[in-house]
Amino acid sequence: MLPQLAVSAKILCLLMVVICGAVPSMVRSVRLYSQCSHLYVNVFPNGTVMARSGGNDQPNLTISTRGFSLELLIHSPIQDMYLCFNRSKLVGRRLTRFQAERQPNCLFKEEFVNGYNRYHLMKNEDRYIGFNRRGLQLRRGKSRLPERVHKCLDFMKVARGDDFNLDRHNNMLAGDLPKWRPQRRLRPPPQNSIKPPCHGVRHHHGRYQRRKNCDGT
Ligand SMILES: *[C@@H]1O[C@H](CO)[C@@H](O)[C@H](O)[C@H]1NC(C)=O
Ligand SMILES: *[C@@H]1O[C@H](CO)[C@@H](O)[C@H](O)[C@H]1NC(C)=O
Ligand SMILES: *[C@@H]1O[C@H](CO)[C@@H](O)[C@H](O)[C@H]1NC(C)=O
Repeated sequence: MLPQLAVSAKILCLLMVVICGAVPSMVRSVRLYSQCSHLYVNVFPNGTVMARSGGNDQPNLTISTRGFSLELLIHSPIQDMYLCFNRSKLVGRRLTRFQAERQPNCLFKEEFVNGYNRYHLMKNEDRYIGFNRRGLQLRRGKSRLPERVHKCLDFMKVARGDDFNLDRHNNMLAGDLPKWRPQRRLRPPPQNSIKPPCHGVRHHHGRYQRRKNCDGT
């Protein structure tokens, strides 16, 4: 009796999908880490999109497919906005999913280049999401960007569950839990490092101590 019920429920679900056109889509919770700004893509309440922090970071995004197609929607659940291009500018727009799925300016295609992810408009192979070192948007099409700037179209897609936790762990170690920061190894070492300089130790304690302090952390 029970298994039969389960089967009926499944058939009902399938029917609903067919009738309503509510095709299931893959939804992934991610953050996009810009290879040029070394910060996550952030959607601000006014719809501005930058790859930098605003003090009150909410860089969680969801990337979902439109039905069975390869077209992707990028949504900020916190701001409840979809990422869309308005001419050359990427903005967060308050649309329903129904509306966003019907806006070619909000539908992206994902590319994999040298281990990084890139996103361009499905309908425009030249219109890529990209940010400069200061986290501001690149407004030019890819074909008009110098080759050396192409890396600014690269993102690390950090998925919830894998590096999300690593990130949180690092922040906890740094005593900096509320803010989401890139992993420490990706940043240049700070100028005013608190580690004692190695040569000073060598001077006072000789070879054995130097190895202990400088190589053995
Ligand atoms: C939107 O908000 C961001 C972050 O607070 C700010 O930097 C930016 O200037 C604002 N943009 C506009 C057009 O108001
Ligand atoms: C963002 O995602 C992380 C990891 O899943 C979660 O702990 C955090 O609560 C999320 N932030 C918001 C504001 O939803
Ligand atoms: C696109 O940008 C222009 C100028 O910034 C603005 O006036 C217009 O409302 C925007 N359109 C949409 C659909 O957001």
